Amino acid sequence: MNNLYQSADWKAEKHVPVIEAAKKGELLEVSVAVGKEIAHPNTTAHHIEWIEVYFHPAGEKFPFMIGTFDFSAHGSSVEGADTSTVYTEPKVTCFVRTGKNGTLHAASYCNIHGLWNSSIEFKG
Ligand SMILES: [Fe+2]
Repeated sequence: MNNLYQSADWKAEKHVPVIEAAKKGELLEVSVAVGKEIAHPNTTAHHIEWIEVYFHPAGEKFPFMIGTFDFSAHGSSVEGADTSTVYTEPKVTCFVRTGKNGTLHAASYCNIHGLWNSSIEFKG
């Protein structure tokens, strides 16, 4: 499993999911984007297919899956590859209600370059 995910500094590697979290009232707003500093290609042949987000509350054994987000439009149409005007960008925002601090994890999947992950500590 240790070789399943790749990770790196997101400022130098375009595949790393970048996580941002901010408390909004009783909700935790979680945003995840791939290609925040260096844009990842978004073409029919090369694109990000999905992002998953997990929250692991501090002191608890198991993490919780917050959501999985599929990006389905990558430029293909009845005319062929990269002929449409629609490309889903690999950026999501979701909201979580929790009273706990913990670690947010994100995974992203590039159809060519595989699985990438990152994590941040959240302290409300
Ligand atoms: Fe890629």
